[in-house]
This record gives sequence, structure tokens and C-alpha cells, in this order.
Amino acid sequence: MNIVVFISGRGSNLEALLNDQNNYQITHVIGSKKGIKGFDVAEKHGITHSYINWQDKNRAEAITLEILSEEQPDLIVLAGFMKILSADFVAQFKNKIINIHPSLLPAYPGLHTHQRVLNDKQTEHGASIHFVDSLLDHGQVISQTRIKVNPEDNAESLASKLITKEHKLLVETVGQIANEQIRWHNNTLFHNNIPLEKPIVII
Ligand code: GRF
Repeated sequence: MNIVVFISGRGSNLEALLNDQNNYQITHVIGSKKGIKGFDVAEKHGITHSYINWQDKNRAEAITLEILSEEQPDLIVLAGFMKILSADFVAQFKNKIINIHPSLLPAYPGLHTHQRVLNDKQTEHGASIHFVDSLLDHGQVISQTRIKVNPEDNAESLASKLITKEHKLLVETVGQIANEQIRWHNNTLFHNNIPLEKPIVII
């Protein structure tokens, strides 16, 4: 299975995927910011990477589509990609784009999830992987991982506790998509041949 990964920053989730690549290959990394650490990660692994200036979204998406028509990926992974893709773009890759988001969706879509969880005095937090539709952090949730929120936690401690679990969540979910344990059939998402009713829990 060929994958293109979209990033906007550090690229630690990208690196987790690059270190795995058991039953999939990352063929190209697309980044929306110049000079991001994620490009160094791609470089280190010898993966072609492209910076695309997202100031003009239509143009950015047109260039991205050209790359994707060359690469013909089976899956697009948004891993810390901070731009919102247009409905037209997403429609061209129905059920082929996944995103990792640091909250237990549908709770806390959008930014600053760790702080919002703390503000609301939640005792549990987590991360989700979902198929991307035209709404922000929306679309069928595939899998989740959870962490406890302790009274002494702050946004930084939650982020650092969660990130290692995010890596495992992403690698395992992508692996299961690649081996078709997770697959779409007639607009229903199946996990191990059973329609998925609740997100898969990855510890
Ligand atoms: C992760 O927390 C991810 O859930 C969120 O952005 C962060 C990206 O981190 N969408 P990295 O660039 O993969 O290190």
C-alpha cells in the first residue's frame, strides 16, 4: 500500500510511520510550511518531500493534486497537517484520507485540545484517528487511545504523555488498513469483517 503523508510541523508521527513500513510504503511527504522539522525526518529516510505554499489554497490544492496523480497513493495520512482541505479535494479521495487528532472525538475538534480538556476538568483525554470528510476533525472515527488526566497535569505534560501513544495508534491503525483488517465495503467500515460500531481501542 502506497501512502502520501501531509505534515505542517515536527513530523514525529511521520517518523513513527517511516520506522514501521511493515506492510506499506511512504512514497512522498507534502508539507505546508517551509523549513519544518518533518522535512528533515523525510530527508533522513530518503523520502521525496515537497513544500507547498498554502497561501493560495486553490493553487496549493491544484499542485498537490498533480503530485497525487503521479503517486497514485492508496491512502493519504494527515499527520499534524494544519490546513483544512476543501470539500472538492476531499471528495476526490473518498474514504482514502485519514487524520490523527489529539482528542477523543467527537469531543474537542479544533485547536488547543489539551488546554480545553484541562479547563473542563476532564479526567480522561486521548487521541483519535478518523476518515476525513469536508468538516473539521469530522468523519468516521476508526480508533482511539486514552490517557488519564491527573490533577498536576498541564497542557505540555498531557501533550508529551499523549504523543507516544499517538505514534502507536497511528502505526497500528495504518497497519490494519494496509492488511485490510480495516476496510470499507458498500459505505460501511468493517474491522475484522464486522461492521465497526465503536472506535477500535489501541492501548
Ligand atoms: C499531533 O499531536 C497530532 O495529533 C496533531 O498534531 C500533532 C503533530 O505532531 N494533529 P507531529 O508533527 O507528528 O510531531
